[in-house]
Amino acid sequence: MANFPPDFLWGAATASYQVEGAYQQDGKGPSIWDIYSHLPGTTYQGTNGDIAADHYNRYEEDVRLMAELGLRSYRFSIAWARIFPNGMGEVNPEGIAFYSRLIDELLKYQIIPFATLYHWDLPQALQDIGGWENRAVADAFATYAKICFEQFGDRVTYWLTFNEVINFIMLGYRDGLHPPGVKDERRVVEVTHIVNIAHAKAIAEYRQLTREGKILAGKIGMAHVLLPGFPISDQPEDIQAYENYEVMDHHWFYDPVLRGDYPQTMWNYYQSKWGAPTVLEGDLALLKQAKSDFIGVNYYQSTFLAHNPLNGVGLTTINTTGEKGSQKESGIPGLFKRVINPNIDYTDWDWAIYPEGLHEGIKRIQERYGTIPIVITENGIGAKDAIAANGEILDYPRIEYLKQHILACKRAIADSIPVFGYFAWSYIDLLSWLNGYQKQYGFVYIDREKDLERRKKQSYFWYQRVIQTNGAKL
Ligand code: FCB
Repeated sequence: MANFPPDFLWGAATASYQVEGAYQQDGKGPSIWDIYSHLPGTTYQGTNGDIAADHYNRYEEDVRLMAELGLRSYRFSIAWARIFPNGMGEVNPEGIAFYSRLIDELLKYQIIPFATLYHWDLPQALQDIGGWENRAVADAFATYAKICFEQFGDRVTYWLTFNEVINFIMLGYRDGLHPPGVKDERRVVEVTHIVNIAHAKAIAEYRQLTREGKILAGKIGMAHVLLPGFPISDQPEDIQAYENYEVMDHHWFYDPVLRGDYPQTMWNYYQSKWGAPTVLEGDLALLKQAKSDFIGVNYYQSTFLAHNPLNGVGLTTINTTGEKGSQKESGIPGLFKRVINPNIDYTDWDWAIYPEGLHEGIKRIQERYGTIPIVITENGIGAKDAIAANGEILDYPRIEYLKQHILACKRAIADSIPVFGYFAWSYIDLLSWLNGYQKQYGFVYIDREKDLERRKKQSYFWYQRVIQTNGAKL
C-alpha cells in the first residue's frame, strides 16, 4: 500500500471553548456558550468550559508536550470574543497577544499552526442582535477574519473559516440542543445561507490580503463534518432513504462551499416548504467566487438509513448518558430514518465505529467535486478511559480506533485521493459540549482531582511512534 507523503501533517486538534477556560480573563467577552452552559438543564450536570483544561494559562506546558509527542501541526480555534469582546468594534489587544504567543510557541518547536476562525463560540453580543440570522453578523465575521489574517497571517498559513457548519446549525436551530436552542427547520435553512455568505466574505478578505502581499500566501478552507450514510438493506426504499439523507445532510452543505451553488432538489424542497433561503442579489456570485484550497473533514462515524413513512419517526434523539443503546431511531418522516446496524460496534454514546465510512466518504467527495485536497481535521473516539492502579491511562480502544481510521486514510492515498494531513481529536482531554468531562478524547489526560495535572496516555506513546515512522508502524 502507498505510504504517507513525507510532508504529511500529523496533527491533533482542539477548540477554544473546549480547552481554554479563562472565560473572563484578559478582557474576553462572553460567548453564546458561556451564557448557554450556565442555564439550568442545558448540559450534563451543568458542566461548562469556565476552566476547561485551562489551556489559556498552561499553553506553554501543553505545547512542550506536543513537541515531545512529535506533532507536525496543531489545530486550534480562535475565540472571537477574545479578539472582539463585543463581536465587533474595539479589538482587545490581550486577545491578540494570547494567540500570538501561542503561535510563536508552536513555531519555536516547528509545529505548524492550523487555525480555525469559528468553532461555535459566537460572541453573545452578536447573538443579541440575531446571531447568524442577521446578515450584519456575516459582515462582522469577515471583519474579525480580516483582523486575524492581518495579525497572524505572517506566521499562519493554514486557515479554516468554520468548523462543522452542519452541526452547529442543526443542533442549534433544528434540535434546540446547542445555543441558541431553537427548533425551527425554516430558520435552519436561512442560517445556512448566511453562514455560507460569511465564509465566502472571509475568503474574499483572505485573497485580497494575499494579493496585496500583506500576509503569507497560505491555504484556506472549511471543516465540514462527514457523516456518510449507507442504506441498511438493498431494498429500493432504503436506498431511496439513503439518497434523501445524502442530499439533505451533505450536498446541501458541501455544494455551496465546493461548487458555489445549492443542489436543485433541496433548493426546490426548501423553497416550496418555507420560501427559504432568502437570497439577495449578488449572493450566488459571491459563493461561486469563494474557492477553497482544500476541504477539512471531521469524521467520527457513519449512519445507516432506512425507509421512514410519512407518519414515521421524527427528530432527534442524542445519547448524552454514556449508556450504550440509549439512542433511539430518529429521522424525517417521508424521507429517511437513522437506524442501528446490528453488525457493527458502537461507542458508549452510540456512535457507529465504521472506518470504511471514512474511506468511502472521502471517495464520494472526490467523485462529486473533482480532485480537491483533503485534510482530516478531526477523528477520534469518546470513551471513559481505563486507569490502572499505578495511574497509567490504558486507552487501548482509542489506539485501535485511530489505527483503523489512519489505515482508511492510507487506502484513500493509495486510491490517489490527495489526503495531506490527519488531526486526531483531541490533543488533550477537554470539554464535550453537552457531555461535560465524562467523555475523553485526548492523548493527554487531565486529572481534574489534582489541579488539572497533565499525564500521557498509552495512546500518546503510540501516536509518537506513528509520527516517528511516518505512519509505517501503526
Ligand atoms: C465534533 C466537534 C468537536 C468535538 C467532537 C467530538 O462535532 O467539532 O468540537 O466536540 O465533535
